[in-house]
Amino acid sequence: MAEPGTTTQDALPKGFRSAEQGWPELRRIPHPPYRIPLLGDLLGASRRTPVQDSLKYAEQLGPIFRRKVFGREFVFVGGAGLAADMADETRFAKHVGLGIANLRPVVGDALFTAYNHEPNWQLAHDVLAPGFSREAMAAYHPMMLDVAERLTGHWDRELTAGRAVDVPGDMTKLTLETIARTGFGHDFGSFERARPHPFVTAMVGTLTYAQRLNTVPHPALLRDATRRNEADIAHLHDTVGELVQARRSGGGGDGDLLDRMLDTAHPETGERLSAENVRRQVITFLVAGHETTSGALSFALHYLSLDPRIAARARDEVDRVWGDTAVPGYDQVARLRYVRKVLDEALRLWPTAPAFAREAREDTVLGGEHPMRRGAWALVLISMLHRDREVWGPDAERFDPDRFDAAAVRARAPHTFKPFGTGARACIGRQFALHEATLVLGLLLRRYELRPDPAYRLRVTERLTLMPEGLRLYLDRRHPAPTASRVPVPDEVPSDSGCPVHRAGD
Ligand code: HEM
Repeated sequence: MAEPGTTTQDALPKGFRSAEQGWPELRRIPHPPYRIPLLGDLLGASRRTPVQDSLKYAEQLGPIFRRKVFGREFVFVGGAGLAADMADETRFAKHVGLGIANLRPVVGDALFTAYNHEPNWQLAHDVLAPGFSREAMAAYHPMMLDVAERLTGHWDRELTAGRAVDVPGDMTKLTLETIARTGFGHDFGSFERARPHPFVTAMVGTLTYAQRLNTVPHPALLRDATRRNEADIAHLHDTVGELVQARRSGGGGDGDLLDRMLDTAHPETGERLSAENVRRQVITFLVAGHETTSGALSFALHYLSLDPRIAARARDEVDRVWGDTAVPGYDQVARLRYVRKVLDEALRLWPTAPAFAREAREDTVLGGEHPMRRGAWALVLISMLHRDREVWGPDAERFDPDRFDAAAVRARAPHTFKPFGTGARACIGRQFALHEATLVLGLLLRRYELRPDPAYRLRVTERLTLMPEGLRLYLDRRHPAPTASRVPVPDEVPSDSGCPVHRAGD
């Protein structure tokens, strides 16, 4: 079942506009050699790694190129100049296309998948944005610490047993539990289970299916997978329906996101989110709020394990800033500047949400060179933008957190680092993700030395998001790190009620 009243088929977006219709000078944009009639540019491409294939094409074809798959043609942009032009909100807006549009049967007009004209986007944005203010974040901090303690408890046991830890698996448990707990007061018990929670399995199923839809000529070819997908969607909605019901009958929580969704009226119009929209938002936050952060933490740990010099510098900072504070307070996390640079650099090389799409609001000319009709769109490949040698230098492939020194950041052109997207539709959870990930990296660096498996070579798996596949690390315990279950009183937190999305720059 998709959502009530729809099926996967009819809930799929109509009019997946092929580029021929929107780009009058399309022929001037290069495409891969050896185009096959009907199939298009499939030679040498794998349906499992569309992003990494596109990176290879970008190497050969330059800052803008096109690919044709089963008769539909798409334009990809990755050069810094063109990507910056597409960030101009007066001429371009988010386009709900390709992978994201395939999630419409799952979450409809929730924040991530809403079309720009759908009224529920502005309503939900205005109601939910204060849930990501500094005050809200400071209130989530103790819960984030509690979940992180479950991770270190698990890692301590693995270490004692002499086993390597499953980094992406454990980071996914951590980030899922964190968003479930802080957003919805829910506990999936991920660390206590031998197998992933069925909700997680269903969620991964729908993401994988959404990606596969892009790689077949017609959804009818995925009949069995479509049936499984519909069961997965039903499971997601049932689980969330129960969660919402429990909250309603329990008389409210502690002011988390779910309370906000259920109780808050729009400050100007007095409107509230409908029951159906609340379900869609909860699923969206559970999905968007954990996969990407889990990948970011995993890539950061991978690079930290490979470079003891960088790890030592980050660890020194944690020791210096946190000293022997048993439990770091909210403001002590933002002061881990180098750890944050490690995270930024991991997100530069592997932006875990690897692309976003932009469409022309009116007829325009991209980069002064490529005419686009109103509604024409392109996919901005963040992973390609983040490796543009004109911005990042000839060693753009090298992991180097110093690229995020304040002076280096100031010297770069705007819109060159975009892991959280751009404009009004940029990531609402950016501060949440950065706080959570910096806190967890700090806690892990303070507690463990990380040893890589010498045989491991980075393999990146794609299911709309990016994740290092099969990454395992060996741990050594450092001097006994202080443990305490006392919840700290956050340091003084200045009041800030502005929209956290619009405030965020590059
Ligand atoms: C490292 C972690 C994260 C990354 C890399 C990331 C990346 C992104 C990107 C690139 C977009 C824009 C997509 C587009 O333009 O189509 C986005 C939107 C969004 N993200 Fe995140 N995200 C992260 C964490 C989070 C977290 C923790 C949450 C929630 C707690 C979240 C919730 C959302 C939502 C709801 C949107 C849609 C916003 C809108 O259109 O109004 N994300 N994210």
